[in-house]
Order: sequence, then C-alpha cells, then structure tokens
Amino acid sequence: MALPNVKSQKDFLYKRKGPWPQPQPSHPFGFAPGVVHIPKDEVRKWNWTIGIHYKITLLTFWPKSMAYAFKNRALRPVTDDDFERLLTHSSFSKFLSNELNEKEKYPHNEKLTIFKKFLEAEPNEQFFVADYSLLEHCLSYPGIYTAPTISLFKGELVNGQRKVIAIYFPDNNLMLTPKDSNAWELAKYFVLQGAAVRISSSAHANLHFPYDSINAISKSALPKDSVLLRLLKPHLDLTLELNYSVLNSPTSPVVNNQMMPFAAFPAPEGGLAGMFLYGYNGMEGNPSYPKYEFQIVPNTFHSDYGTFLMAYYNTIFNFVHKVVEQIPEDEYTDIKVWADYVKTWVPNFPSGDEFFYLDNNGKAKYKKHDKEEEESLLAKVIANIIWDLSVGHAADHYDYSLIDINKAPLRLRVPPPHSNEIPSFDRKKIIDWIDIFKHHFERKMFFAPRNVTLLQDTKYDFNKPSEQILRELNVYFLEDLKKTEKELTVYNYIPLDQISRSIQY
Ligand SMILES: [Fe+2]
Repeated sequence: MALPNVKSQKDFLYKRKGPWPQPQPSHPFGFAPGVVHIPKDEVRKWNWTIGIHYKITLLTFWPKSMAYAFKNRALRPVTDDDFERLLTHSSFSKFLSNELNEKEKYPHNEKLTIFKKFLEAEPNEQFFVADYSLLEHCLSYPGIYTAPTISLFKGELVNGQRKVIAIYFPDNNLMLTPKDSNAWELAKYFVLQGAAVRISSSAHANLHFPYDSINAISKSALPKDSVLLRLLKPHLDLTLELNYSVLNSPTSPVVNNQMMPFAAFPAPEGGLAGMFLYGYNGMEGNPSYPKYEFQIVPNTFHSDYGTFLMAYYNTIFNFVHKVVEQIPEDEYTDIKVWADYVKTWVPNFPSGDEFFYLDNNGKAKYKKHDKEEEESLLAKVIANIIWDLSVGHAADHYDYSLIDINKAPLRLRVPPPHSNEIPSFDRKKIIDWIDIFKHHFERKMFFAPRNVTLLQDTKYDFNKPSEQILRELNVYFLEDLKKTEKELTVYNYIPLDQISRSIQY
C-alpha cells in the first residue's frame, strides 16, 4: 500500500514540530486537554502585549480599588426589576434553561417536582430556571458563604426580561418568593453570587480551553499556505500562552492566592476546580449542566443576549461559508487529516469523513450539515470556531465587567436564609470592604477586556494573485460586521470596536 503524499516540513508552521494538545497536567481528568509546549515566539508576543499590562495593573491599580471599596462599602439594594434584568437579560441570561418546558425530553427532572405548585397553578405558562447548583461543592473559605440556588422565572420577554417567581435553596429545601421580604432580599444576593461564579469560573472556561486543541492542531497540522489556516490564524493569536498561564501560573486567578490583591473568589483552588469541572464534565442528570461537547452551531440562549450573539454568528457564517467554497480541492486531504486529529481531543468534533464524500466521478465534495441546507458542515464548524473565539468570548467579558459588583458579589459574609422569615440585615455587614476591594481589582485584571487586535480590523492573509475573490470577501465581511451592529434589534451587549478577534484575556 502506498504511503500518503507527505508534504515537506517547511510547508508547515514550526516545521511541523509545533504545539499539540495533551491531558491537562494539573487536572488530567474531567478538564479539557491543554497545550503546554507553547512556541517561544507566541510566549514572547503575549508577554509584550498582554502579560506586561497585567503587571502594570497589578502594580498601579491599588489606589483605585481602595478608593472604590471605601466609597462603596455596602452591597446595593437589588430590586426585583434589577434581579430580572441581571438574570434574564444580561450575560447571566445564558444560564436561563428551558428544561421545564421539555418534559418529554427530561421526564425525571427533579426541578419539575421542586416547582410543581407553580407549574400546576399556570399550566399554559412558559417557565425557565436559572440553576446555580454548582455552588454545592464550592468549598468556600471559613467565614465566607455560598449556596446552591435554583431560581424560577416565567413568561415571554417583556422589555428583554422575564418575571421572577421563586428562589429555591436545595440545601435546606427552602422556597422563597417576593413575599418573603428580608429572606427574599438576602436570597437574591446568593443567586447573583452563583451567577458571578458560574460565568467567571465555570461556563466561560468552555469558551477558552476546548479550543486550545483546535488552536494547536490547526497550527501544526494545516499547511501554512492553506486557505483554512490563513482564515483561522488571526483568531488563534495570543491564546495558547494566555490559557497556559491561567491553568499553570501560581499567580493565576484560579489559584486565588490570598496574598494577591485580585484574589476575590470565595473558595481556594480546590473548590474552584470543582466549578470548572461542572462546566466541562457537566452534572449527571441535571439538564442545566450538560457535559461539554463541540457545538456545530452556538447554543440557543433564551434571551436578548442569545439574539445578539446569533446576529454576529450569522454574519460570520455568511462570510465563512463563501470562503470555504473557495478552498482549492487539493487542500481537502489536509483538512480531513486535521479534522481527524482534532476529533481525538474535542468531543463531538466531526471526523474527516463527516466533512467530505466522493461523488459518482470519485471527486471529493463537501457534506452538508443537514440535508435541507445548502451550506457545508465544514462552513458551520469553522464559523462556530471563529464566532466563539471572537464575539462569543468577548461579549461575556464586556457585559460581565459592566455588572455592578455591589449587586452581584463574589463573596458573602453571612449564611443564606434559613427560613421564610429572617430579621432585617445591614447591607454593610454582609460583605467586607476587602471583598469589594479584591473584586474591583479582579474585574480590572481579568474580567474587563484587554484588547490587542480587533475583529473589525481583521485582514486575512489572502495574498495570492489568484485570491481576488477572497480579498473581496474579506472587505465585505468587515462592512457586514458594521452593518450587523447598526441593525441590531436588541441591546448592543458589546460595541463592535471592543470585540477582540481572538481570545486575549
Ligand atoms: Fe476569557
């Protein structure tokens, strides 16, 4: 049997000795594979663009966070309207689950029993849950409290929000409604804390880490001259070293070393690792926490945030599918090999054979994602990769960094309500000033965007004389992005000029 036609090493970045995934050194089970041997030029570039700014912020931001913490010493009241806005409209709304309306799909869902009386009272109503059960194993520091919660919302979107009905605490089977004055007021902070922990330490990780495998394999297995690598490359920049630092540096936010001014999370590294685990490995039997798998199209979110994200996805897809049509046939074999490598490391990633078929003349052709559709599966997969690494990721950071830390704290210094009636509480005494200081610092360090290169300026290296069409597509794409922003039908969760083109923070 003849060996495949092997291209020369010089046709590849790093002479085909580039980065590659492996089991995550610190967490080989239940975490996405990691890339630990990062090319030196990538490390250097990250240090001089992003790493240096972390250092500058670390040295200089103290007075600002101190001033903020002294001036904003107490938690702020959260009205029910604020609560609904945060949980069902902001980036937290990505956690709003439709599972109670899918009884056939999840007949044994215990939330059907938990919220039975509300569901039966209004059988024609649509209900949604915001499930922050992951806090169950947060293992917070002594004196700092967290609690798993499940909140119930109902109805259509009105002004981008849904109505809150109840908050349930599984630890003590406590069901609270807005009638439970003090207990209700305190409960809302525990829910918002859950949302803050879930977005920063659990769900967001799935936008980062599984894509390291795609990043490394694309750089090492696709010829540097291929259209696909040139399409992906701007979106793979600066990320490998960032993700490596997050998971391996002793000063990383996930280590939460209490000597660092930004270490605001409520639990030590071991507790936070559990939060990551629930994000990637899921929670058995809980539809709000599916096991991670690669999405061919982005997940549906039941909110304006979802509508916003899909508007940009459609723009990216329209561009990508036209570029994919331009890929010369002699690159198909490399793409098949690339897909088979990625599939080994990324659950549900299609194999090479799922991307192509041979027609009656023995010619390789793209397979469709769906028989009804015109566009290829490859276009869908690539569009989702580019969308995740740019809009999907940056929107989370931008919107979360705007959420009031005095309404959605990471730490609370009192236990959750134990019954429907509790005495009134002082909003200054349920949190320490140091908690506010650290949270403010952490937000500046790691949640607020640190853009180096923007999606709206992306110029792909389509430089061959024969690639005039690709160059034109690039120009249309950038115009289309502007048009997408102008024609948004919902709140603009992140201005186009703040969307990074790759994961840079
Ligand atoms: Fe991020």
